[in-house]
Amino acid sequence: MSLIQLPAREESTSAPKVTAQTLLDRKQARQPITALTAYDYPTALIVDQAGIDVVLVGDSLGMAILGYDSTLPVTMDEMLHHTRAVRRAVRRALLVADMPFGSYHASTEEAIGNATRFIKEAGAEAVKIEGGRNRAALVSALTQAEIAVVGHIGLTPQSVHRMGYRVQGKSAAAIDDLIADALALESAGAIAIVLECVAREVGGQITTALAIPTIGIGAGAECDGQILVFHDLVNLTGTRPAKFVRRYADASALFAEAIEHYASDVRGGSFPADAESYHLPREASEELLAREPIKRSQR
Ligand code: KIV
Repeated sequence: MSLIQLPAREESTSAPKVTAQTLLDRKQARQPITALTAYDYPTALIVDQAGIDVVLVGDSLGMAILGYDSTLPVTMDEMLHHTRAVRRAVRRALLVADMPFGSYHASTEEAIGNATRFIKEAGAEAVKIEGGRNRAALVSALTQAEIAVVGHIGLTPQSVHRMGYRVQGKSAAAIDDLIADALALESAGAIAIVLECVAREVGGQITTALAIPTIGIGAGAECDGQILVFHDLVNLTGTRPAKFVRRYADASALFAEAIEHYASDVRGGSFPADAESYHLPREASEELLAREPIKRSQR
């Protein structure tokens, strides 16, 4: 590990802390909410200091950084570990943690227990769960337990074996279902809803129907906010991006170039340079040079 340190937390950030009320105010003022995922300390520091409103420790970390082929294997321990790292960096944004598959499905008691761990042990300010009307009672129970909940409907990646990775809400009946899901989550106390992979028109309808904000990912510009996976945004995935991803940087190419350059410098002997080496004080250096070199056999 290099001794060069990342910048210290900026305690004096002038922008006020983002809360659930801030998101609501933004919707009412028609000021778009910005959200991104982060899974580790340095990324979270960059995202928070860039002024992003919501940082989500998404279970997409299973694919983005753990190499799983879906979000399903992600465990509570993995989510807590990464949420703690992100918590150490985030000062201003609202910090939301994804509840992983299996952590809120068996019973309300277990779900409240697991959600409480995110708040109490890892410092999250809200949890996100997938599902609509089938989760409304749970959202209500979590809200009663003083845990802020973000809903997630449309394409819900934890349902991949049932729904695949497809655009949702393509028939009138399916759109009605999505609207009913969104309204049920709102009535149950959700502070916001992530809408994933629905037609722009559907995103617009749901956004208009709700008093709480919608945060879209592949759900069009009418949502109250937008979220992307950080690794998609900067091209650190090694896979073809979904239609809704806009790549703002090519970190894979940048990193590959830096690594090739480093390896070539090491092989060519130009790294490390003298200026990148430590030196003894003159006296100690002269003493060392005056000594007989230690022979291999004397070791
Ligand atoms: O896990 C995640 O990153 C998410 C976003 C795609 C909203 O749920």
